[in-house]
Amino acid sequence: MLQSFNEQNRDLLININGELVHRDRAGVSPFDSSVQGGDAVWEGLRLYDGRVFKLREHLNRLTHSAKALAFETIPSHDELIEQIRRTLEANSMRTDVHIRLTLTRGVKITSGMDPRLNQSGPTLIVLAEHKAPVYDRAVGATGLTLATSSIRRFGPDQMDPKIHHNNLIQSIMAKIESNAAGADDAVMLDQRGFLAETNATHVFVVTGGKVETSRCVACPEGITRATVLELCARHDIPNAERDISMAELYRADECFTTGTMGEIAWVGSVDGRAIGGGGIGPVTMRLRELFSELTSREGERVVG
Ligand SMILES: Cc1ncc(COP(=O)(O)O)c(C=O)c1O
Repeated sequence: MLQSFNEQNRDLLININGELVHRDRAGVSPFDSSVQGGDAVWEGLRLYDGRVFKLREHLNRLTHSAKALAFETIPSHDELIEQIRRTLEANSMRTDVHIRLTLTRGVKITSGMDPRLNQSGPTLIVLAEHKAPVYDRAVGATGLTLATSSIRRFGPDQMDPKIHHNNLIQSIMAKIESNAAGADDAVMLDQRGFLAETNATHVFVVTGGKVETSRCVACPEGITRATVLELCARHDIPNAERDISMAELYRADECFTTGTMGEIAWVGSVDGRAIGGGGIGPVTMRLRELFSELTSREGERVVG
């Protein structure tokens, strides 16, 4: 398993609509839209030394997702930042913290899917946990192992992945398959059979020194993904976004995943095929260094 219980998180205070409640007593109403239909949007953010990396980008994606789902009220960036700050301060948190920000359509007057049953505004949940990048332990000397799932990722004609919503069943089904295959995570394909992403992260390949990732057709507009592409552009590392087939993934020199939860993690094998030379590759290593250098100096200060 990639994660385990962290004793530091035993007495977390969780922010629900501005109220800070102990994790054992925190909860939302059975009438809340997240319980009723996964009718919510979310973001995972990471805190580095009091600063949230790419804070505006995350808040924009949350706001755009809520707008696409036609939420009647969406808190302003200032309101969201204030609640994040209050939560971090209440928990005396400064670094190595993952923040799960969830905005639901709110409480319904009665059970049912009609958004007109929502008449009291959205529910905002700020869950901050002490959490180091989650793949660090799994990566070890072997790299992540991935197994391809039979569950396909939707494109914009089915459920637009540009909406970062809370219906995670597709990902969970893929994760169940990768667990059964003894792998760390699942590779997911788009409807045409090209690489989409994993159940939780974006996937990059490096071939002949060129860094490539799938187009954002059946994966979210990843913030770490965009950061890696920016780093490549800034440091003259050849890069491209294109359709990638599984045969191209198997024969790549290097492969790595990206995401806020686990940053940049190298992949050792996919579907039983060793990737490259069996160790972390030089391009992945360089990008990890560049990323770490960036997170150590960029980001918006939220707590002192
Ligand atoms: C399905 C999925 N893929 C990839 C990612 C990684 O995206 P980011 O780099 O913005 O954290 C996320 C993050 O929430 C995700 O939910």
